[in-house]
Amino acid sequence: MITFLIILLAIILIAVVLFVSWFLSMKANGKCPLCAIKKLTIPRRITIDTSDANDYDNGVAKTPPMGWSSWNTFRNHIDQDLIMETANALVDSGLAEAGYQYVNLDDCWQSSMRDEDGKLQGDLKTFSRGIPALIKDINALGLKVGLYSSNGSLTCEDMPASLGNEVIDAKTIASWGCEFFKYDFCHNSVISGDCPAIEKIELNNLNETQYNSELTLNPEDAVLSGRAKIINLKELPSGKAIGYLNHGAGAAEFTVTTLPHGKYALTIVHQKTFRRRDSYAQVIVNGVMHEVFFPHGKGFSDSGRTQIVVELKDGENTIKISNPVVTVADSEYIQYSRMGRALKNASKQWAQFTQTEEKPIVYSICEWGTGMPWIWGRKAGNMWRTTHDIMPIWTSIVALYNFTLKHYQSAGPGAWNDPDMLEVGNGKLTEDENKSHFSLWCMLAAPLMLGNDIRKFVDGNNNPVEGNAALKIVTNKQLIAIDQDPLGKPAKLIKKVTGVDIIARPLLNGDVAVCLFNKSSSAKNIHLDLLDLVNDQYLLMRKANEYELHELWSDKRTTATAISTSLAKHSVQVYRIKTL
Ligand code: GLA
Repeated sequence: MITFLIILLAIILIAVVLFVSWFLSMKANGKCPLCAIKKLTIPRRITIDTSDANDYDNGVAKTPPMGWSSWNTFRNHIDQDLIMETANALVDSGLAEAGYQYVNLDDCWQSSMRDEDGKLQGDLKTFSRGIPALIKDINALGLKVGLYSSNGSLTCEDMPASLGNEVIDAKTIASWGCEFFKYDFCHNSVISGDCPAIEKIELNNLNETQYNSELTLNPEDAVLSGRAKIINLKELPSGKAIGYLNHGAGAAEFTVTTLPHGKYALTIVHQKTFRRRDSYAQVIVNGVMHEVFFPHGKGFSDSGRTQIVVELKDGENTIKISNPVVTVADSEYIQYSRMGRALKNASKQWAQFTQTEEKPIVYSICEWGTGMPWIWGRKAGNMWRTTHDIMPIWTSIVALYNFTLKHYQSAGPGAWNDPDMLEVGNGKLTEDENKSHFSLWCMLAAPLMLGNDIRKFVDGNNNPVEGNAALKIVTNKQLIAIDQDPLGKPAKLIKKVTGVDIIARPLLNGDVAVCLFNKSSSAKNIHLDLLDLVNDQYLLMRKANEYELHELWSDKRTTATAISTSLAKHSVQVYRIKTL
């Protein structure tokens, strides 16, 4: 017992000594230790204030995107023939006409080798015709093509990915005519919240050939906010620097009025310390954000120089330096937004260069809900996965639905919660379960990405297979119309009654869609008085003496003021309700 206590005491003592020495070294190097610790209490939440940021809004995905993705059925076994056969089958089966227009190549379309210019390229064997030719042929069928990469050094299947290559990869896929881009989260590196102490900044006009320092701004020249302050650092030539710029602690803002407009090299002279990762700052020049990574090594000298190119105008310019990263979610927001900007610029620039109409790229964020993207996703992209990967089993469908339902207020035209691609017709889901899965996704205003082998929906004469249950479900026009309703308001939970969820969403024409979902494993009788919906501020359903109830799976219409029905286990009924 005594030995145990001594060991425990020794461990606590070591931990305290380590913590105190870390704390003191942070302070000595001009870092705010308390700000760095904050991430431990709110690891998943974004701390960056996004309230002033505009929505992503690239003019597309005004209703949830619909199409097909290779992943759920084919995983890493995809090739150009399969993709072309699928595209043809989308047309022949009637799916394209029903609205499924994106043919999305998920992971494993890429070669492990970038080309001689550093660009991504299709697998040299399985996509030997090249991705551009494939896209052209699919476009000729009236369909659009999506591609996939990861916000990391490699994709989830360990193929080359786009973190650090955002601009070149966005330009490459835009030049191929890609119109949908899924950006995964495997092999991600989190941006450090650390920021070095800054001794001074220098500005040099890039048109001058003479070597001279046109303007040097010292710590005293900056207006410091938050906890940022001037600290003494003996090892630096001037002996002082601006510290406490790390982990959102504070910011330093310089004002420049004396330089003529033009492009300038901005050199940040900073303290060097050994770090595990590159440290980071955002330099905002007249509202334009530049990202700066400071190498994590120390080399021989204590002072380092890191440069970017900035644009100054005549008159007053502001240069603001800070590192806003506290949590992983902050890092994600910055990285996903970086790719979003690259995609927007790339499609615009390609259209200008080729004098053709712009093909904006639907931007699908796939970080599995880890950094609460329903909070910031609409500022960064068009849709965001809310959860980890779907599986073709009932518990997975219900879990993804349960979780996504809560975030109904985050979505709207151009910005959607994505509970993952459809598994209707896959695995061992029963017909009721398939109908429920599809209905729930439509109620959630989810993107509808089929995950089937579409070729099975077409017979030998290139006609839709008669009586194919999955095909029938995913082409239910009335349900698709709920999903695609232009008001874009997802369903919210109205009430739970003994294993049955009642969820509802308002529709553009004033109708309300109501779904009764029996989650339980036994049949249920259910009664819903429509007055319950009238009092809901989200649904804004008008009070009336009678309503038309249209049940969308049976296609039966009745007139009533209440729904009284029974539901088999795992089944749904979906009503479109019209005030008479
Ligand atoms: C992750 C994603 C999936 C799929 C695979 C591909 O798991 O969440 O949807 O894209 O990667 O490797």
